[in-house]
Amino acid sequence: MDLMERIRELSKGMHQQLVEIRRHLHQNPELSFEEFKTTSFINQTLQKLGFDQLNTLTETGGFIDIHGKAGGGKLIALRADIDALPIEELNEVEYKSKNQGIMHACGHDVHTTCLLGAMIILKELQEHWKGSIRCIFQAGEERLPGGASMLIKEGVLKPNVSSIHGQHVMPLIPAGKVGFRPGLYMASADEIYIRVKGKGGHGAHPHMNIDPVIIAAEIITELQTVVSRHAKPSIPTVVSIGKVIAEGSTNIIPDEVYMEGTLRTYDEEWRMRAHELIVTICNEKAKTHGAQCEVEVRKGYPFLLNDEDLTKKSRKWAEDYLGKDKVEDLEIWPAGEDFAYYSQQIPACFYRLGTRNEEAGITSMVHTPTFDIDESALITGAGLMAWLAIQQSSESTTGK
Ligand code: NI
Repeated sequence: MDLMERIRELSKGMHQQLVEIRRHLHQNPELSFEEFKTTSFINQTLQKLGFDQLNTLTETGGFIDIHGKAGGGKLIALRADIDALPIEELNEVEYKSKNQGIMHACGHDVHTTCLLGAMIILKELQEHWKGSIRCIFQAGEERLPGGASMLIKEGVLKPNVSSIHGQHVMPLIPAGKVGFRPGLYMASADEIYIRVKGKGGHGAHPHMNIDPVIIAAEIITELQTVVSRHAKPSIPTVVSIGKVIAEGSTNIIPDEVYMEGTLRTYDEEWRMRAHELIVTICNEKAKTHGAQCEVEVRKGYPFLLNDEDLTKKSRKWAEDYLGKDKVEDLEIWPAGEDFAYYSQQIPACFYRLGTRNEEAGITSMVHTPTFDIDESALITGAGLMAWLAIQQSSESTTGK
């Protein structure tokens, strides 16, 4: 039986085991950088499977290297994030979250399970592949500064990790399928905080006040010109204001208006220029009306670049493993993701694992209280990750 077939069989054979791991993780979610029980569960599972314990670089999470026994090859990495979100789960399922107000609503339980599954396969087939594979269980994806940036600082990519793969659930893609996108994929995500300070008073006498509501309205509209008049059409950019608080009344003009929003884009130089523009627009608008403005643009994760070469190769390998009809092209997706930090350092490929099952009503998006997955996706996720890792680590180190 060839290697690919053996991986398919192994991943199918371990489905029940993976479901149990995933459900345990799902029932016991922990917030970013507080994944202590999750980390010890991963360690317990590793022990049962005959692996060493995780190497630790941060308080929670860790990594472990597996070495192929076919000689040669190179060191590559696989990454799974392990943290959950502050959301109260609304699914009435037997594996519902036991931790009030915390839920694996972004599928990181699935990512962790699939990486453990891939490790079982890699160990089983150790004689048949080359190189070394670093399996990273990363803490704190959902919270700044992001576990990825901390791990990189602590040397997780040293001495010479040559590439990295990460997979993420995608409820828009049916279970059994996956998606790839070479090049720009996810956006840099920065937070905007604005406070317009005018002078409140009676709503009947606006000429005696400095109305911050009108100024805020102008700012909201003008900020869209950052996208429509300043951004190069070739660089996707989004500015959204999602919070506006003006606590006046029918006949009261408030003293101030508070706003929050986000800037998403795909170019570092333009990102910094956009920050300046946002600050200038807010201050100028306020000044025109004799008001004042406090504005802060807080930096989040950078944009995520999928290495063209690595991602095209991986897409092809996925087609070989799953079949052509099971691999889709992804659209650009301007959410933030701290895997972007790895992509700034080494060739990276962040791909999507389909988890949708329309018939079973499993369609909710990530970060919602009803998010869930079709658990058959665990078979695809574990098997494909092992297959991609073996292909990439076994490549000769000559050339690129
Ligand atoms: Ni996520």
